[in-house]
Amino acid sequence: MTTEQMASRIEQLKKEKNAVLMAHYYVDDDVQDMADYIGDSFFLSRKATEIDADIIVLCGVRFMGESAKVLNPNKKVLLPEIGADCPMAHMADVETIVKMRKEYDDLAVVCYVNSTAELKAASDVCVTSANALKIVSRLPQKNIFFIPDQNLAHYIADQLPEKHFIFNDGFCHVHHSLTAEEIAEAKAEHPEALLCVHPECKPSVTALADYVGSTSGIISYVGASDAKEFLIATEVGVMYELKKNNPDKTFYAISPQQVCPNMKKITMEKLLAVLEDEQPEVILSEELMENAKAPMIKMLELAK
Ligand code: 13P
Ligand code: SF4
Repeated sequence: MTTEQMASRIEQLKKEKNAVLMAHYYVDDDVQDMADYIGDSFFLSRKATEIDADIIVLCGVRFMGESAKVLNPNKKVLLPEIGADCPMAHMADVETIVKMRKEYDDLAVVCYVNSTAELKAASDVCVTSANALKIVSRLPQKNIFFIPDQNLAHYIADQLPEKHFIFNDGFCHVHHSLTAEEIAEAKAEHPEALLCVHPECKPSVTALADYVGSTSGIISYVGASDAKEFLIATEVGVMYELKKNNPDKTFYAISPQQVCPNMKKITMEKLLAVLEDEQPEVILSEELMENAKAPMIKMLELAK
């Protein structure tokens, strides 16, 4: 089947089955083109509470499908590739959360949405890169145990000196691999370009940025800027939207490491197959969904 044939069959199945396709900016361009809703993790979480369809197909990694399911326990949530899993989502553990709760009285466990449903269920509030600063600043607790990402935690902690952060050692291998030396080389090669950095990058990299923010934040910043050249320090999938919105601007990646192998597992073939077969489906226990929902809803409320 050609891509066009697959696209038309996907459209037909969407209508027949009353399905909605949601995609993150890091998936391949052809998959992004099929999405009814495309956005960053915060947009996808918020949108998931507004969906009026029988089926949600989440074109992204597993934690995104789990979040959509937790927010829509009565809908069928499908993942084109169940093995598309974010390694960082597992880089914390419930035992350490329990230990921290015993150690600190005035503690909030803040869980980046890039985490398993089990970790969310053991936490007080979820955040994304788009709202972490706002949400943590609004929490009454002084002590913040931020899981799983060390880099986003440091980025937020530096801006909230009134809070006491307890750091966890998780990281995103895609963003964490970028170095200040590579940035310096890219800046030397493109001296006019502004540097946009995702906060999953190391502090030594965010320190060099003209703008730090989520993928949607970077897209908005670039759209509003008069500059013509940009260095993009996040997963390269975001370039598709940047180029579409800004045909007069030029974008440069920093390194060949900026590719998330798990996001790239979502293909047109798998998207078509998941709509035909209605599996793999995200299945979580009632108890887990209930417990993971509270910190997700708290995020949506505090982000308002
Ligand atoms: P956003 O915070 O822009 O959604 O990207 C984070 C990410 O790594 C999603 O996997
Ligand atoms: Fe996980 Fe990083 Fe891939 Fe996002 S880009 S899914 S954080 S590995």
